[in-house]
Amino acid sequence: SPTAPPSSVRAGVLLASNRGPVSFTRGEDGHLSAKRGGGGLVSGLSSISGGPGEIVWVCSALSDGDREAAERSPGGRLDRSGLFDQGAAVRMLALDPKVFDDAYNGVANSTLWFIQHLLYATPTNPSFGPEFQRQWTSFEAYNRAFAEALAEEAAEGAKVLIQDYHLCLAPRLLRDLRPDLRIGHFSHTPWAPPDYFSLLPDKAAAEVLEGMLGADRVCFLTRRWAEAFADCCERVLGRRPGAHTLRVHGLGVDAPALRKRAAAADVAEREQELRAAIGPNRQVIVRVDRTELSKNIVRGLEAYAVLLREHPEWRGRVVHVAFAYPSRTDLAEYRDYTAAVQRLAKEIEEEFSTPELPDWRPLIVHVEDDFARSLAAYRMADVAVVNPIRDGMNLVAKEIPIVASAAGGACALLLSREAGAHAELGEASFTLNPYDVNATAAALHAALSQSPAERAADCARLAELGGALPPQSWFADQMDEL
Ligand code: G6P
Repeated sequence: SPTAPPSSVRAGVLLASNRGPVSFTRGEDGHLSAKRGGGGLVSGLSSISGGPGEIVWVCSALSDGDREAAERSPGGRLDRSGLFDQGAAVRMLALDPKVFDDAYNGVANSTLWFIQHLLYATPTNPSFGPEFQRQWTSFEAYNRAFAEALAEEAAEGAKVLIQDYHLCLAPRLLRDLRPDLRIGHFSHTPWAPPDYFSLLPDKAAAEVLEGMLGADRVCFLTRRWAEAFADCCERVLGRRPGAHTLRVHGLGVDAPALRKRAAAADVAEREQELRAAIGPNRQVIVRVDRTELSKNIVRGLEAYAVLLREHPEWRGRVVHVAFAYPSRTDLAEYRDYTAAVQRLAKEIEEEFSTPELPDWRPLIVHVEDDFARSLAAYRMADVAVVNPIRDGMNLVAKEIPIVASAAGGACALLLSREAGAHAELGEASFTLNPYDVNATAAALHAALSQSPAERAADCARLAELGGALPPQSWFADQMDEL
């Protein structure tokens, strides 16, 4: 176990999340190199000022490179300089692989994620037997390891921001170790209504809620998710959290940074490649997701097939660009879902490709993660599809209009009413019931039938709303509240 740092280098601000801001890989030359990840939290950090040692980010070692780096570094702390402007340090926790697998794949992603996104097909699943018992014990150990590392790293009275469902037990555990700290917990997911949340075993349900209520501030992306959490507290614990405890902080895009990134040369290169594949004078429907059950990619592609069947006039005049990047491939459900997406994509190509339109590809699917190519597609979007079954926020819905309008275009947004972003963007979008494939096809037809001039006002409004809550202020507001 790493030794605690001396009090002079303890941190005044701490973050904790399963996936950290850096990952390490061993290159062919044998050298361990660090790559900085994207995401709102990393950019949010730039709003904190302070000297080195001020900020420590505690996260899991996820790759073999991470484990090696973590095991080598004295005290478990890595990279005090270089990757972050502010000189934040990262502390990676290399847990026993079995404990980590139980906690991350078993509880966090196969249980809590499924509950919060309403993903279970309840006649057979979930079923909480002895295996779950063991996974839950590992989940407690995983949360305890985070709480202990944070307790070691934190200066007297420090502020600690704990992220997401993986770490829902950590606030209470940390509070017990260090009553002096100011603790916030932030859920980036939706929150299930009480009838669905109560699928969890009673003890686990109560532990999740009590765990989060160990924080001074329990924060959500929208009022809807915060209220669902309060309803669950009332049902399971018999009490609602107070207004000071329960907070809402919407999260948007760092629009200037995104526009700058989208104007880079590698994006222009990808755009040329995509334009060549799409061909001239065709409208472009864009979607970009992790290949994630809650993103509802299959129903979205089905809706596109219904559109081409019922409105053959669009054949040859529209191309659907759908990027579905690998995610959580350790889980069988995700591998099956990936296969289902690829199967349907093939069926659509076979059904609609025709020798009469030899240069028309109805659907262009890519599955290798490539952010520059995503941005190239954003620049070309006439219609964006964001149709999740449920989503905490969904930043793609905010990013596409920002990039499309900066590129001089205008895109319409089809947005699920079950995405957190709908609370902010709904007024300027086509609202979708994500289960209604026919209605989604009808919305595609309506959006494609608009002229660019008709789309322009909504797109400009969407771009403005999408950049309204940048990560810097999201982060600073939470720090202030703590
Ligand atoms: C969601 C969660 C994040 C998570 C991300 C990717 O956005 O809210 O906490 O990092 O999915 O999932 P992964 O399992 O790859 O970390």
